[in-house]
Amino acid sequence: MERGETRPPEKRRRRRCIILSVVAVLLLIIIVAVVLGLTVGRNTRTLKTTFTERCEEFKGYDCEKLWGVFERAYVGLDPCEVPMEAYDPLMAAVPFKPECNRKIFWSKTKDVVHDFTEKRDCFYTVEETLLGSVLNGLTWCGKEGSSETFTTGCPGWTDCANNTVRSFWNRVSAAFADGACGDVTVMLNGSIATPFHPASVFASIEVKRFHFPRVKRLNVVLVTQENFVTNCTNASLKDLQKELDQGMTYDCKEVSEAQIQECSSNPEKPCGACW
Ligand SMILES: *[C@@H]1O[C@H](CO)[C@@H](O)[C@H](O)[C@H]1NC(C)=O
Ligand SMILES: *[C@@H]1O[C@H](CO)[C@@H](O)[C@H](O)[C@H]1NC(C)=O
Ligand SMILES: *[C@@H]1O[C@H](CO)[C@@H](O)[C@H](O)[C@H]1NC(C)=O
Ligand SMILES: *[C@@H]1O[C@H](CO)[C@@H](O)[C@H](O)[C@H]1NC(C)=O
Repeated sequence: MERGETRPPEKRRRRRCIILSVVAVLLLIIIVAVVLGLTVGRNTRTLKTTFTERCEEFKGYDCEKLWGVFERAYVGLDPCEVPMEAYDPLMAAVPFKPECNRKIFWSKTKDVVHDFTEKRDCFYTVEETLLGSVLNGLTWCGKEGSSETFTTGCPGWTDCANNTVRSFWNRVSAAFADGACGDVTVMLNGSIATPFHPASVFASIEVKRFHFPRVKRLNVVLVTQENFVTNCTNASLKDLQKELDQGMTYDCKEVSEAQIQECSSNPEKPCGACW
């Protein structure tokens, strides 16, 4: 009888234990789901907010609609399988105005070129156009089977060729280069061994879009610092020259970073006199 008396409470305790475990597991699942949901929701909201706020600085565009067109390029896709063509509808939604003599390209000179374009109304880069500016410095991607936008855990620039972010910059750079005409300028870096590097966006995408007679001239500004390693005679710049259409004029100038900075902070100096 002693055993019989102890059995029922043991059973009850076991049952209570099972119920408590089930409740705990359910609670855990709910907490994880809520946290994940919030994180994912916040990612989409943050990127969308940044996108729309930056977009609204440009007048005359339906920024909400542009966000929708942008999102459809990558949402639900493997982030390593987004080709640059995925952004064609976005390029069509914000056509690049062709503009002569005012476009400046760059490779490995991001800070000095933007310091210059921000302070002086001489040239502008792709980062100053609507599409370039709304996504400048941001990371985003989708995931197969998901309708969300993620801003973390996305592949990096060199992780795979057709990643969400790289394909965007390739596509928008191609569109920006397509609209170049007259004199085109590029700022290259004289402190690195290969200023015209075949893997750069400038070499692999932009230069290939410059065609004579629309583009008449390419001016290379090779930015030099204290102990610069390369000059205009470098073999990679000879390769650049070889890539240009017949008839296009090529020019290369070594210009010190100090001279560009001086020009940036001297608004009276004519743009053409900066180098
Ligand atoms: C990347 O996409 C292009 C189409 O833009 C395709 O031709 C190429 O094979 C793809 N590359 C890789 C590594 O998937
Ligand atoms: C050129 O590249 C070097 C090395 O990456 C960098 O330190 C330097 O700031 C660059 N120069 C310019 C003018 O951007
Ligand atoms: C350019 O650099 C090369 C070495 O890379 C050097 O032989 C040549 O004298 C330099 N030319 C000028 C004009 O500084
Ligand atoms: C010049 O260009 C060549 C080939 O593109 C490269 O290998 C070389 O290291 C460059 N730089 C210098 C300082 O010679």
